[in-house]
Amino acid sequence: MQRNRLNDLVIAIGAASLCLISLTACGKQQIDLSSKADKIASKSVTLGTGEVVFPDDRPSVADGKVVWNKQNCASCHGADGSNSGAGKVNFADKGYMRLQKPVDQYSFIWTGKEGVKHPTMQGTISRREAWSLVFYARSLATPLLTDEETMPIDAVFGSNCAVCHGKKGYGDGPLAHNLEPVPANFQQFDRFYDRTDAILWDHIANGIKWEGMPNFRGKEDKAKNVKFDDEYIWKLVQYVRHFHEQNEPTIAADGAGSSSNTGSSQTSEKEPVKAQ
Ligand code: HEC
Ligand code: HEC
Repeated sequence: MQRNRLNDLVIAIGAASLCLISLTACGKQQIDLSSKADKIASKSVTLGTGEVVFPDDRPSVADGKVVWNKQNCASCHGADGSNSGAGKVNFADKGYMRLQKPVDQYSFIWTGKEGVKHPTMQGTISRREAWSLVFYARSLATPLLTDEETMPIDAVFGSNCAVCHGKKGYGDGPLAHNLEPVPANFQQFDRFYDRTDAILWDHIANGIKWEGMPNFRGKEDKAKNVKFDDEYIWKLVQYVRHFHEQNEPTIAADGAGSSSNTGSSQTSEKEPVKAQ
């Protein structure tokens, strides 16, 4: 089972590199550069039940940690998520996490997966808390950018991306209205929770063909002394992610203030309670 999954990953990665060489050979591999706008802009994503799955506010990695502790996820996955015994995946494995869509992880945690025995959170925690859990799990592989890391990238984003995507990532930069399709709104949950980090990386590195999104791989911002190499593009992926996740705690470390609604009502009705 685990073997197969690994093989799939290897194949997907192989296919992705092939795509870079020959755009037309991509077929319907994981990273599909030949798709048109309507495929790239995500449809609204729902669970099998037709339930809308997105949170009302950016999920919080800090909240996710509180829920992780409260729900005892560590009892199986290990405190740092790296316990990969008994068929479990290693959450600390960057390469693996980069190929997971947040929406699939949410669905797994919320309602589970057929044929897999696993605790499900629907009815136990709020929808936003489940999303916070997802982004906490993802942070075990790739920690959030610190403020010190974010600041210099703010400047690079400001001079290379904001002209289209807008300073706050809403897709409303000064050039935006000239483009069809319009630049992506990084705060659009249904689009970005339906993306793996690997796809975001690919789109920043190689651009989106026939659309306004330029390719950055190998380019330089001399004024900012930045080279858009592979590592830096991963940083940009994390930067893009910070528009739709955050680290602000809204529930206290002891779980107080945590709402127990099932997701039909919204957590934001509650006053945020700061963790000490
Ligand atoms: C009783 C042990 C156990 C507990 C408790 C547990 N897990 Fe798991 N978890 C597993 C096992 C085993 C798998 C692998 C299942 C599979 O895919 O076959 C798994 C898989 C997962 C996956 C899917 C990974 C993937 O992409 O295939 C996620 C996400 C996850 N767990 C999150 C959580 C979270 C969050 C919690 C706490 C709410 C939690 N788990 C609690 C045992 C556990
Ligand atoms: C000339 C305008 C322009 C610039 C500059 C630009 N983008 Fe884009 N970007 C776009 C457009 C247009 C799209 C939407 C394409 C689509 O919907 O298919 C897009 C889409 C994206 C996406 C979403 C891809 C997806 O999978 O949905 C990401 C991520 C992104 N841009 C990141 C960046 C970053 C980071 C920079 C700066 C380093 C940047 N863009 C600079 C126009 C631009």
